[in-house]
Amino acid sequence: MRLAIDPFRLRKNMEELAEFGWESTGGIWRESFGAADQAAKQWLIAKIEAARLHARQDAAGNVWGRLGPAGPAVLVGSHIDTVPAGGMFDGALGVVAALECLQTIREQKPALGHPLEMVAFSDEEGAFLSFLGSRAAVGALRREELAEAQNMQGVPLAQALAACGLNVAELLRARSTPHAIRAYLELHIEQGPRLEAAQIPIGIVRTIVGIAAYRITFQGEANHAGTTPLAVRKDALLGAAEFALQVDAWVRSHTLGVVTVGNMDVLPGAFNIVPGEVRLALEFREASSAQLASMEQAILQIGAEVAHQRNLGFRAQKLSWDEPVALSPAIIAVIRQEADALGLKFQLMDSGAGHDAQILAPQTEAGMIFIPSLQGKSHCPQENSRWEHIEQGAQLLLNCLLRLAGSESAKA
Ligand code: GLV
Ligand code: MN
Ligand code: MN
Repeated sequence: MRLAIDPFRLRKNMEELAEFGWESTGGIWRESFGAADQAAKQWLIAKIEAARLHARQDAAGNVWGRLGPAGPAVLVGSHIDTVPAGGMFDGALGVVAALECLQTIREQKPALGHPLEMVAFSDEEGAFLSFLGSRAAVGALRREELAEAQNMQGVPLAQALAACGLNVAELLRARSTPHAIRAYLELHIEQGPRLEAAQIPIGIVRTIVGIAAYRITFQGEANHAGTTPLAVRKDALLGAAEFALQVDAWVRSHTLGVVTVGNMDVLPGAFNIVPGEVRLALEFREASSAQLASMEQAILQIGAEVAHQRNLGFRAQKLSWDEPVALSPAIIAVIRQEADALGLKFQLMDSGAGHDAQILAPQTEAGMIFIPSLQGKSHCPQENSRWEHIEQGAQLLLNCLLRLAGSESAKA
């Protein structure tokens, strides 16, 4: 028996999920542990229950849906939180496709050798802490980072958790029992232009980039914008701007990586006040671990030098550090074979975006399937993919899951 996903149900579920956090200004915002994210999780739990899977939410707010007996499961999933003004596919596709696969298997009842589980991990986007949910699941969270974590509005993680009936102490105990995960699969949009340009419907991910995040502060002196001579100002914004330009130039000329200043808070923030303090959100990425470390060293040195030259204070707070990872050759081989069997062209590729799979990879056999993003757009309201590619990706996901769960129907 060959099992087939239901593309209409998949699309309907994607469209329903996109209603949560939709903003009239354009785009979707489901900040983890916020009201829209919570409502979306309740929607997901109801869908999991309606599919007659066993639903549960853990102490990190991760939502799970299980099929089959106790024992190490083949896990499939992604995240449903979004960036501000994000799109409807990043993460959501992996979760809704996981639900579709498990629901199809639940309905068609092929004999399975191993249980299957789906998951939507909390805060993949790092509103509070990158990969918070998947790191909780594998026991890779530290108490200190949880105590310091806050979102861009300055809301502490503990407060956001409390609003959801969760807390830090429990979160540290959210770890799935060791060896509970047999393998992990994630379907995701590419979020870049390569598959579309090559007219290839499937990407099979080999490596995921390493990502570091810092909050940087330049401390100057607020003063009157009309009467303070340019020569004596301690203008924090000029320091921050020079820093952003210099790190960009350094990274372009010394690495294959990227650096982004994604946000600047200018304080006090008025036409007529010399900026007294600027807080910047900085992240940088590299596929090589050694290069990621040299980027860090160079960036901190540039910050200290710019601050010194401009008579400013400089503080750098490391928020997260996720090493680059290689995904499982065994899972890559399974995806290749199943793509071939479906007659789908594929390309092996490296991911410049972060994914929960990189947190799972050191603990279990992890693999990822990409489908094309239109015009390579993501983390913006224009993020889009063709339904035809979504269906192909979800069917490939189902076939890989059946193989990994040791189903006879995978061989039919
Ligand atoms: C995750 O979406 C990332 O920022 O790469
Ligand atoms: Mn994202
Ligand atoms: Mn994502």
